[in-house]
Amino acid sequence: MAEIGTDIEKAASLLEKGELVAIPTETVYGLAGNALNTSAVVKIFEAKNRPQFDPLIVHVKGISNAEEYAEEITEQARALATQFWPGPLTLLLKKKNMIPDLVTSGLDTVGLRCPNHSLTQQLLNRLSFPLAAPSANPFGYVSPTTALHVNDQLGDKIQYILDGGPCKVGIESTIIGFEENGPIVFRFGGLSLEQIQSIVGKVKAQTHSTSNPKAPGQLKSHYAPGKKVILGNIETLLQQYPLKSSGILSFQKKYNSPFQIILSPSGNIEEAAQNLFSALRSFDKMPVNAILAELVPDTGLGKAINDRLRRAAAE
Ligand code: TXA
Ligand code: MG
Repeated sequence: MAEIGTDIEKAASLLEKGELVAIPTETVYGLAGNALNTSAVVKIFEAKNRPQFDPLIVHVKGISNAEEYAEEITEQARALATQFWPGPLTLLLKKKNMIPDLVTSGLDTVGLRCPNHSLTQQLLNRLSFPLAAPSANPFGYVSPTTALHVNDQLGDKIQYILDGGPCKVGIESTIIGFEENGPIVFRFGGLSLEQIQSIVGKVKAQTHSTSNPKAPGQLKSHYAPGKKVILGNIETLLQQYPLKSSGILSFQKKYNSPFQIILSPSGNIEEAAQNLFSALRSFDKMPVNAILAELVPDTGLGKAINDRLRRAAAE
C-alpha cells in the first residue's frame, strides 16, 4: 500500500528522482511523473496498464509556463486559458520538441492544463518541470476522486499519494482542440459547453469517434466500473431486473431499494458530477449483479455525466 499524506516536499523529492506520485486535482486524482523524463513517463503507462497510443495531459503552473511547452497559444486558446485556468480545461496545442513524443503518443499537439488545487499548485511551483498525469486508475476503469480510491487500485504500484481530500468537480477536464474552422470539444468534462461558448462562441463537439480516436477517452467502452451498467428508465428496467439484486443509480429520485445511490437529492448537477465516480465504484462492493442507471438533464455538467454513463454502459 502507498503512503497517504500531505507532504509536498516528499512528493517533490520522489518526482525529482523520476518516481510517480498520485496528486489531487479539482477534477480527479492524477498519476503524476516528470513530463520531460521519458523513463518516468514509461512508468506511468506501465502502472496504469495503458496503451502507448493514448497520450497524457501535461499539468502546468499557468499560461506563461504553458508557453514553455507549446509552440503557439492561439488567440482563442489564450482567451479560454485566461478565463478558466486554473480549472477543468485541457487545451490541445502544438507541442515544442522538449515534450517527449511518448507523452503525446507521437501527435504533434500536447494537452496542457493548469489544475485548480492548492496542494498541486504548490507542488508544481516547487518543481522545475511540468507533470504528466493521467487519471490515477487502471486503464478503462472509473477515475478516482479520493486518495483511498487511488490506494485501492494503484497502492502497490506507487510510494506516495498526496491527499487533497475529495475532488470538488469530480469529473475529468473538458478537452478542447483547435482546427482551421475553430475550437472543437474532444471530451465533455468539468467545464460546461455553455461556459466555453460564452468566451469563444459556438464550438463543435467531436466526442464519439470509434476508430483511431484523437482522444482515446473517446473510446466507446471506457470509465467502466466492475458491475455492468444498464441505462434507461429505472421504472421500466425494474420490470425486467429483480429489485433485490440490482443497484440503482438515480439522479434525484428515491426508490425502495437498499442498493440505491442518489446522485443529488436536490437535483443539483454539480453535486451529481461530484458524486458520480464514487457512486459507480461503491456498487462494486454491493451484492448486486448490475447497476440500473438513468441519464441526468443534458445541460451544464450533465453532458459530461451522461457521456461517462453511456461509456460505462457500453459493452
Ligand atoms: O481532469 C483531467 O483531465 C485528469 C486530471 C488528472 O488532470 N486527467 C485525465 O487524464 O483525465 P486521462 O489521461 O485519464 O485522460 C486524458 C485524455 C485521454 O483521453 C487522451 O487521449 C487525451 O486526454 N489526450 C491527451 N493528450 C492529447 C492530445 N495531444 N491529443 C488528443 N487527445 C489527447
Ligand atoms: Mg482517464
